[in-house]
Amino acid sequence: MLDRIRELGTEARAALEGAATPAELEDARVRYLGRKSELNQVSRGLKDLEPDKRREVGRAVNEIKKELNALLESAKERIEAAEAGADTLDLTLPGRTPWVGRKHPLTRTLERLTSIFRGLGFEVALGPHVEDDFHNFDALNIPADHPARDGWDTFYIDGDTLLRTHTSPVQIRVMQSQTPPIRIIAPGRVYRNETPDASHGSEFFQLEGLYVDRGVTFGELKGVLTRFMRELYGENVNLRFRAGFFPFTEPSTEVDVECRICHGSGCSVCSGTGWVELLGAGMVDPRVFEAVGIDPDVYTGYAFGLGVDRICMMMTGTDDIRLFLENDLRFLRQI
Ligand code: FA5
Repeated sequence: MLDRIRELGTEARAALEGAATPAELEDARVRYLGRKSELNQVSRGLKDLEPDKRREVGRAVNEIKKELNALLESAKERIEAAEAGADTLDLTLPGRTPWVGRKHPLTRTLERLTSIFRGLGFEVALGPHVEDDFHNFDALNIPADHPARDGWDTFYIDGDTLLRTHTSPVQIRVMQSQTPPIRIIAPGRVYRNETPDASHGSEFFQLEGLYVDRGVTFGELKGVLTRFMRELYGENVNLRFRAGFFPFTEPSTEVDVECRICHGSGCSVCSGTGWVELLGAGMVDPRVFEAVGIDPDVYTGYAFGLGVDRICMMMTGTDDIRLFLENDLRFLRQI
């Protein structure tokens, strides 16, 4: 009988400790501690036992009942606490942040550049992405078979139609349709048939600038570009104006900014030079004025073409231009 009491104790302990709901706990209570439970029947039968046996069995039954009642109480508290926890609203928990759509970093860069140049008195002009040879090359003093065309690896659609390789054809369209003074910027996508790498895309954005009036000087060009760069990168930005060549400007310059990825020490973005070329610029070549019917003896002008993706790279610390077009949200959300 004592063995059976011990067995019942083991079963009852497991049932009480394993109960996860009030109903399971009540089942366990009725089975092991209820009026009709086996332990209770043993208690009721004590009177029929020999006095010595009665004492021994009675003590064992009392001890096990005491232990099981204590277990029942703690199981009740445990289940009640778990249920209360499930319903409690913890107002101190941080909320879940919903994903919010934002503008692409290139769009934001274009907007920033446009706003700086508007502040400097420039208006926005747009042109077609599918261009013809005349606007993309000939009128810019790059005749067919001229070696300078190699500088712009071109996607041709047919013999005379192409995807514009730069935003400079917008200069031509504006000068054909307006009379000086002209002060415009032309932001937009351009296309080049070249192999992409960390700082070269086969499609990217440029922002063209053109100012034509009487007496415009190279000094003004330098001034406006320096002002622009300082607005963008801060007063202490390190710039480098290098002599350059473009068939449509004379003299020409290319402007570099100190690489903001490696801070001038050399990396894959700046090809180890510490400088990144951001734009080409110069004084409008008289032959361009002649092609659009503006008198070069009366007017002078400057033009520039900025690489918007490169500016965006330097602003955001992005070390590969291709990331902008891959549209990997994990990358875009970091900016
Ligand atoms: C031009 O495209 C000229 N049309 C710029 C110009 C305009 C000169 C007006 C004078 C007057 P270039 O090919 O160097 O020039 O490109 C201008 C800028 O575009 C470069 O300085 C660079 O910042 C950016 N760029 C050029 N090629 C790529 C490319 N493959 N990927 C990303 N950015 C590029």
